[in-house]
Amino acid sequence: MLSNQAADPAKRTSLHGHWSSRMAFILAVTGSAVGLGNIWKFPYIAGQNGGGAFVLVYLLCVFLVGMPVMMSEVLIGRRGRRNPVATMALLGQEEGSSPNWKWLGGVGVLAGILILSYYSVVAGWTVAYVFKSASGVFAGAQAEQVSAQFGGFVGDWRLVGFSHTLFMGLTTFVVARGVERGLEQAVRFMVPALMVLLFVLLGFSISSGHFGEGLAFMFTPDFSKLTWDSVLAAMGQAFFTLSIGMGAIMAYGAYLPEETSITGASGSVVVADTSIAILAGLVIFPLVFANGLDPADGPGLVFDTLPLAFGQMAGGVFFSTLFFILLSFAAWTSAIGLMEPAVAWLVEHQFRTRAQAAVMVGGLIWLLGFGSVLSFNVLSDFKFYKGTIFDNVDHLTSNVMLPLGGMFIAIFAGWVMCRNSTADELGSSGTLYKIWRILARFVAPVAILFIFLKAIGLLPDLS
Ligand code: PHE
Repeated sequence: MLSNQAADPAKRTSLHGHWSSRMAFILAVTGSAVGLGNIWKFPYIAGQNGGGAFVLVYLLCVFLVGMPVMMSEVLIGRRGRRNPVATMALLGQEEGSSPNWKWLGGVGVLAGILILSYYSVVAGWTVAYVFKSASGVFAGAQAEQVSAQFGGFVGDWRLVGFSHTLFMGLTTFVVARGVERGLEQAVRFMVPALMVLLFVLLGFSISSGHFGEGLAFMFTPDFSKLTWDSVLAAMGQAFFTLSIGMGAIMAYGAYLPEETSITGASGSVVVADTSIAILAGLVIFPLVFANGLDPADGPGLVFDTLPLAFGQMAGGVFFSTLFFILLSFAAWTSAIGLMEPAVAWLVEHQFRTRAQAAVMVGGLIWLLGFGSVLSFNVLSDFKFYKGTIFDNVDHLTSNVMLPLGGMFIAIFAGWVMCRNSTADELGSSGTLYKIWRILARFVAPVAILFIFLKAIGLLPDLS
């Protein structure tokens, strides 16, 4: 019998190796969580959904729903020690339910593939902006020039397609070599450096004269601007930014040493991730108002604002280049997490080598990505349901697959797994454990289902 199939969960090991330390796990999960979701997506959807009230709902979702779901994912992953599909099948059986829970893992694998198909396209923009910044086109540029740069770039499908290809190639390469190598070092340097640069930008933003306006936009809730659709978007963003609901964190949990505290590790990741998103908002919105831009600008928001700030700053070419390099790295460490469940699953099933599996999954994602590449140019008028292909893939994954996936993960950890198993993994039966259990059993599943049904109009208004 292979050691990873041991009946005693404490003796199981992962086929793919283990993290070298607690810090390595925190770094890897932080690397997965911190990415385009914080710096590109959070500001633009907060802007589209009217600011303050959206931000408040987002924060509530992060702490009351996201945090317990993240802990559930890690504990399930560590107990099963396999890819998310096999882990769900194994624990489903072990906990006296059914191996059909594997389908939850399967939906997660699919969500990862779909998310990466458009994530890689935006990551490609970031890579392209490294070169644009270095070339000095933004030095002293005005808002219209910066926007024109972005419009011209995304309008050319060959440029976008090329950078998407480059990014997917690099991601596939790392995943093919195995997650543990390189990732730790990359994150250890990248996250702090990114934060330092955000603080530099914050200094600029504060001195731009419109900081108060930006602050008010982000933190003065105007509930009249909130629709159930934007509540769903806020919840979807909480899942997206924390990388939860699709098995990425479960896959990482599988490599987590037995003695590490899941609560502590999850808490640090959630706080780091949320601070970075808020910081990004504090940098971007004052710039938006100072330059007469529209907060509801959409996916181009970051690319229309930050180069503007760098362009007016001493040493701007250097800082801008460095910033987009760091953001590309942040996207890259997230992309690895998006691919990992699919690759781990293939390695344990059909394919002998990790490299073969990575190339196959990477190739499929690359191909699917062209739906999003073309959404900003050739097919920009091809709209249905929520908008372009890009808009629909984003909506389906962030606002449907991740929250519903998270709901079932919470239900599994809270209701299907017996108290002993979860207490064993979370390492206590004290107050923290009790709070987690109430959130996982009641608060998270009920909130997710309620918001979801409200947004699709299946629950009537009481008034
Ligand atoms: N959390 C990542 C980000 O904010 C995106 C992501 C989602 C990564 C889901 C893995 C899984 O950029």
